Amino acid sequence: MVDISGIFNRVKGTYGSLAKSLHPALRLPPLRVTFEITYRCNLSCPFCFQEFAREQSPDFKKNFELSNEEILAAVDELPRHTLITFNGGEVFVRKDFPDLLQAIKARGRRCNIVTNGTMLFADKAELLVDHSSVLSAGVSIDGIGETHDQIRRLPGAFERTVENLRGLTAYRRRRGRRFPVVDVKTVITSQNLEQLSRIYLLAREIGADYLTLSCLRTSELLFALPCRSSMADGAWREEPALLGEPVDLDLLRGQLENLHRLAAAGKPALRFYPDYGEVPGIIKYYANQGSLEDYELCRAPWTNIRVAPNGDVYPCLAYRMGNIREERLLRIWKGSALDEFREGLERQLLPACMGCCFLKAKPGITYQASRTCGKTALVAG
Ligand SMILES: C[S@@+](CC[C@H](N)C(=O)[O-])C[C@H]1O[C@@H](n2cnc3c(N)ncnc32)[C@H](O)[C@@H]1O
Ligand code: SF4
Ligand code: SF4
Repeated sequence: MVDISGIFNRVKGTYGSLAKSLHPALRLPPLRVTFEITYRCNLSCPFCFQEFAREQSPDFKKNFELSNEEILAAVDELPRHTLITFNGGEVFVRKDFPDLLQAIKARGRRCNIVTNGTMLFADKAELLVDHSSVLSAGVSIDGIGETHDQIRRLPGAFERTVENLRGLTAYRRRRGRRFPVVDVKTVITSQNLEQLSRIYLLAREIGADYLTLSCLRTSELLFALPCRSSMADGAWREEPALLGEPVDLDLLRGQLENLHRLAAAGKPALRFYPDYGEVPGIIKYYANQGSLEDYELCRAPWTNIRVAPNGDVYPCLAYRMGNIREERLLRIWKGSALDEFREGLERQLLPACMGCCFLKAKPGITYQASRTCGKTALVAG
């Protein structure tokens, strides 16, 4: 299998270093733009960082969402090498999302999508395989059976998502296509800890290409809108909240070691967000001992940008850099607000970065032994 994720990450690293070394006047265009096309969702996962925006902010109701035309106008500004990602909320809640995918294909562009899979019925499988140019479809599975249903707060969600995923991979096989690659996405929580290996085996049986395990983010600023208008509020200086629920670290270690053993024997390829090459980094994070010194400097704001459903543009931390209803996306990309944000990252990560999926861990991370993390026990050993 061609490792498109690995290739993209290598290109991103080189592009990010090059982009950073150039004078701001010569700013390279973004390598990837993520459009969060809606915050509406048919599920209500308790850990979802969009719950607040969804419930509290009128700006994220349907009426305020960018139309397909507005999204496509922004896409048309971007060079062809810029990868487009469509994320939510739940993208398939938008009835006009299939039209958007077809318009992207008609423009000869490629994109990725992320979905909870509950609405990925046979017509969507055909759409993704035959009538779109989707390179990668990320589909969330957070546990086996009831565990998934409990985390995702919808009885029957597991069965539906797995059945839909099986349909997608079977249809892709029947059509002799390689794309979209299927990326099963799991957030590691205390509830699914003991099932991680089973989730891996399920992803293998479904025919997924990747299993991506994400650490649970707790920062109120990481991809968590509504955007703040100014960094002068100093919120970026605050450490994210500790992980609330205790995690059995021995169990976590055992599961992670087993996952690496399983992945050594074939597909799906295993990925971690943040990018941890080794097991101890993740354990340290779940032991609430995470330290920014364990991570490399981040160049994502030189390569990536996000557009919220109401058109607000933000880099990663929820600070508003502009709005594409008021200013062109590439102007915002090259604007002074974003450059000031980048400047803050030239030589250091920000406290609010902790837990971000873009972080890349340095090798050789060590942690203090303790059996569980969270409010109950953090024992120095
Ligand atoms: C916001 S969701 C949108 C796409 C779709 N609704 C889904 O659930 O896959 C994108 C991804 O973020 C993950 N996610 C949500 N809240 C998170 C958190 N607090 N920490 C880490 N990942 C999270 C979800 O599990 C999902 O894989
Ligand atoms: S399905 Fe996705 S967007 Fe919806 S609540 Fe869950 S994580 Fe959030
Ligand atoms: S690590 Fe920090 S700077 Fe990099 S993408 Fe994440 S929040 Fe942004």
